[in-house]
Amino acid sequence: MGLISGEDLQWVNDTLKKIEDKMVPVTERNRDKIPYTTDENGRFDDRSDEKEICWWTNGFWGGEMWQLFKLTGNEMFKEEALQVEKKLDKAFLNYNGMDHDAGFRWLPTSVINYKLYKSDDSKNRGLLAANSLAGRFNMNGNFIRAWNDWGDGRDTTGWAIIDCMMNLPLLYWASDVLGDPRFKKIAMAHADTAMKNFIREDGSVRHIVGFDPFTGEFAREYGGQGYGEGSSWTRGQSWAVYGFALSYIHTGEKKYLETAMKVADYVLSEIPDTFLVPIDYRQPKTDDLEDSTAAAITAGGLIEIARSLMGEGKEDRAKEYLTAAIKLLKALDSHSCDYTLDKDNLLTRGSVDYHGNGHHMAIIYGDYYYIEALMKLNGSALEVF
Ligand code: GLY
Repeated sequence: MGLISGEDLQWVNDTLKKIEDKMVPVTERNRDKIPYTTDENGRFDDRSDEKEICWWTNGFWGGEMWQLFKLTGNEMFKEEALQVEKKLDKAFLNYNGMDHDAGFRWLPTSVINYKLYKSDDSKNRGLLAANSLAGRFNMNGNFIRAWNDWGDGRDTTGWAIIDCMMNLPLLYWASDVLGDPRFKKIAMAHADTAMKNFIREDGSVRHIVGFDPFTGEFAREYGGQGYGEGSSWTRGQSWAVYGFALSYIHTGEKKYLETAMKVADYVLSEIPDTFLVPIDYRQPKTDDLEDSTAAAITAGGLIEIARSLMGEGKEDRAKEYLTAAIKLLKALDSHSCDYTLDKDNLLTRGSVDYHGNGHHMAIIYGDYYYIEALMKLNGSALEVF
């Protein structure tokens, strides 16, 4: 059932129609790719070769294709989703490439395919990915290790990052499908550690926490992709809002919903009146750097919180989160979206991080979460995470 009605519903349906009108020709001219961003001509790149097949965002194009297939029934989208899933098989052979982003890669591809069609191949892939993710659990500190070392001298053995909250649904799914509690236990242990060590008193969230991998003690936080240590990287906040809401949905544990709300309340107190989201809520006020991806992901998380609260009969609180989600999405629609056929991407103004060069660009997960959030609002989204 949809969450909205009247003018808002009309706006969502009109926006999804604009997206369909663009994405049919865009997908036709980008067959067999796995895009991440666009080139200087506004055309999608392709991360599906051997060198880049392990790139962490390589599930999102598949996920976007599944959502568009659900929206339109156009078989081309399904074919594209399937080609992405098959190409990702190569990633399983690369130990270093199998980092904690197994959820981002195999939930929007194999797991959603399995949920829809019960294919044994997709189930097999999803379970291999879940086993790899579970194998990253550090029992000394009860956290899932984020990355493998990059060979640049930094020791990441004890690093966990807030983004991982979005990977946990892969473990919840594996426990469900196998009737085996191990995966869920690991996911909840990680979520508990994140709750204790990433969420600050005021509801803001650290990006990276380094633990001593042998004792499990908190060692220090890192600024990561945000402005700096002690800052508040907006996409990290959005992963926390959405990720803790998901842990609540998959476990029924109230503490996760309360945590999602605590971070959401902090985020809502920081979002500018324009509803255009900066890269870091603590970046200098003189900066005009934005991250449209953080806005789209935050909207998805707020919608999940609202749905959970409605399930508990807390309509008024739910409405606050839903209203904010709609404002975020409307700001994207009017300010940070390109519906022309000149460019392949939908969202403009995505930013990789604060200090790097990746500012105000096309990023595939921005498009994915924008479409997903709109489809959540009219009740048509596939439940990918
Ligand atoms: N998970 C990495 C990022 O959000 O950029």
